[in-house]
Amino acid sequence: MALPNRVVHHAEAIAWLRGEGRLAGASVVTSLPDVSELPGLGLDGWRSWFVDAAALCMAGVPDEGVAIFFQSDIRRAGVWVDKGALVSRGAEQAGMTLLFHRIVCRLPAGTVTFGRASYAHLLGFARTPRPAPRSGTADVLPDGGFKPGRKAMGVNACVEACRFVRNETTTRTVVDPFCGWGTVLAVANALGLDAVGVDHSTRMCKSARTLQIDLERPGEPLAKEAR
Ligand SMILES: C[S@@+](CC[C@H](N)C(=O)[O-])C[C@H]1O[C@@H](n2cnc3c(N)ncnc32)[C@H](O)[C@@H]1O
Repeated sequence: MALPNRVVHHAEAIAWLRGEGRLAGASVVTSLPDVSELPGLGLDGWRSWFVDAAALCMAGVPDEGVAIFFQSDIRRAGVWVDKGALVSRGAEQAGMTLLFHRIVCRLPAGTVTFGRASYAHLLGFARTPRPAPRSGTADVLPDGGFKPGRKAMGVNACVEACRFVRNETTTRTVVDPFCGWGTVLAVANALGLDAVGVDHSTRMCKSARTLQIDLERPGEPLAKEAR
């Protein structure tokens, strides 16, 4: 059986998404950059950039696919920024409907934090509602799992998202337009899905092309030099 494919583009994601249009046979799983990664925009500029970027990611998803976002809230200049609400605003722009909303604990419940929430939202959207699931779901993931970098998506959260793509859609490619270290791509491949990543950082692209994750031992990433 052919091994799942992985392609990583060193590119600016917005321009890349606009150039691609509809992502045939694909779903999107991503984590949009925080305001701290786009300091030139200021808080208000970043907020509208974020909503438009979420809408663009969703516009690329075909009818049979889903768009899944992993985002953690921040406190900035005395204001709580609810990124789940911002992604939902993007969904309204793109005509998408919310399929699920999970909470992923980034730190143990009760941990005191400053500036960045101890939880992340895992939000799944599609253009059309899906039939009610035959079995229940865990709405709170107690541990996001191993992260190859500080702002990476935890492996457990990636598994949750990529399993949803594999089990609940007919799409067999996962696109992460802000792929960072490549956690989503590595987990998608480990679950038998093809993966396409985009990042404007050379360093991130290098990691995203090589990161391997063993789902049996998710705390021990196998970073291989060449694929
Ligand atoms: C929150 S991190 C993604 C982490 C990733 N989900 C992981 O688990 O490794 C956001 C990434 O977006 C990239 N980025 C930010 N703005 C970008 C842009 N305009 N185009 C492409 N990549 C961008 C950053 O380099 C960073 O790696």
